[in-house]
Amino acid sequence: MNLTIPIILGSTRRDRQSPKAAAFVEKQLNAREGVTAKIIDLAALELPMLEERLHRRDDPPQAVVDFGAMVAEGDAIVIVSPEYNYGYPGVLKNALDYLGPEYRRKPFGLVTVSSGPWGGQTCLAQLRLVTLGLGGFPIPASLPVNFVRDGFDDDGAPVDEESWNRRAKRFVDELLWYAEAIVEKKRRETAA
Ligand SMILES: Cc1cc2nc3c(=O)[nH]c(=O)nc-3n(C[C@H](O)[C@H](O)[C@H](O)COP(=O)(O)O)c2cc1C
Repeated sequence: MNLTIPIILGSTRRDRQSPKAAAFVEKQLNAREGVTAKIIDLAALELPMLEERLHRRDDPPQAVVDFGAMVAEGDAIVIVSPEYNYGYPGVLKNALDYLGPEYRRKPFGLVTVSSGPWGGQTCLAQLRLVTLGLGGFPIPASLPVNFVRDGFDDDGAPVDEESWNRRAKRFVDELLWYAEAIVEKKRRETAA
């Protein structure tokens, strides 16, 4: 089955480390047959502060239109978020709040990132709630990426490749399971 999976990269900080985790996950996904994964870098998109959601704007900024189109074509969505003060970055929430129908009934795979030992577990709990609010659903599996600064090179290659490949496999297997189930259900509904 062909699946499109956008990866929303929620870190825009100078010297940010989360792109390493995003690149790692992008490679893991694209290595699977039929999967097309692509990073949506919020630093590059430069979305303005939210005035109103995309579907309620008759004058939407082009960056928001582009963001909406990329999320809409996703069969599942991955969020890569650093943990900031036990939460997720405000810039990520600003982006997520722009859309609504584009998320509906889609599985979310959550990848949280930290420079410390816990990999953003508190941020993960918050994102699980937020993704339910968006009208999608977080899959039970997650990928908390800890010690990101020293654990990955700039292209997202992990130092401990075997361990990270094992963790990523569990996460990706689960995400694709849910994505395939949902796509199949939507296909049956459209055909009926
Ligand atoms: C404003 C701010 C708050 C942070 N708060 C936390 C935190 O609560 N827990 C944690 O493990 N790391 C925290 N960190 C460190 C991040 O884990 C670290 O920056 C990591 O590299 C991932 O974020 P990045 O993509 O911005 O680099 C914080 C970093 C910043 C800039």
